[in-house]
Amino acid sequence: MDTAADHADFFKTLEEKSDGGKLRGDYDRADARYVVEQEWAGYTAQQHALWRRLYQRQARLLPGRACEVFIDSLAKLDAAESIPRFDRTTEALFKATGWQLVAVPGLIPDQVFFEHLAARRFPVTVWLREPQEFDYIVEPDVFHDFFGHVPLLFHPVFAEHLQEYGKGGLKALRHDALKYLARLYWYTVEFGLIESRQGLRAYGAGILSSGGEIEYCLSDPRPRRILLDVERVMRTQYKIDSYQETYFVIRDFQHLFAATEPDFSPIYECLDALPALATDSLLETETNLPPHVATAQLSSTGG
Ligand code: PHE
Ligand code: FE
Repeated sequence: MDTAADHADFFKTLEEKSDGGKLRGDYDRADARYVVEQEWAGYTAQQHALWRRLYQRQARLLPGRACEVFIDSLAKLDAAESIPRFDRTTEALFKATGWQLVAVPGLIPDQVFFEHLAARRFPVTVWLREPQEFDYIVEPDVFHDFFGHVPLLFHPVFAEHLQEYGKGGLKALRHDALKYLARLYWYTVEFGLIESRQGLRAYGAGILSSGGEIEYCLSDPRPRRILLDVERVMRTQYKIDSYQETYFVIRDFQHLFAATEPDFSPIYECLDALPALATDSLLETETNLPPHVATAQLSSTGG
């Protein structure tokens, strides 16, 4: 796995994926697992200030929109003022759920990514976006990776689920079924919604690190909101350059855990024979859940 040929392969695929563009990260210093030093002292005052602005904009939007555990864990991270030190976060995180953060230059090969997750190591990109990318960025940066993903790693059931996902990823590679598992990740870990006693909330990192989608996903009448069904999700295509047209809803993290626990091998076999579903499809058997209507009390708790 760690041969030069495999690495060259990774960069070639990425070049193709990104229309010949090259990755932004500096991969020269990465080790065999693509891990680098965070080099926290190298961030500039401007970068810390941009982080602070991103954090403030996003934190204001969380009450009434993000799931409770996300809000509570984020508050404990002490990451409002500057780009956080991964080693400090790891200290708290390791005590809570046994997870660690590792710094990476950017996107890493699927197999390496899964190996990290399977070992309870979460890869976090070291570089921060440029000011002109405040609202939108294509490749994940430290703000998306840290702000969006890290808080949920403090939840014991989600933490367990993500490790299982890592193991499942290695298995999907062996089954040539990565496409299906990637869709599941997209519609859960990145863009998942969750029910709460107060109504619908977001738990997906792609939503929670986005200034616009965090409101759109909950209250806009246009997208579909469907109760999670693993096989259905695995058949559903997704868009990476616009808001989602469909969101999948879990009842709680135990629901997500239980739904993904069964052996996927037989599912993978069947899926090859079924057509993919469009991003905006709604099957006859499915209910499109109503959008969430924020109450005055909920929408005024921001700040
Ligand atoms: N149960 C899945 C399998 O057998 C693995 C998995 C677990 C995938 C959790 C996603 C999330 O492949
Ligand atoms: Fe992500």
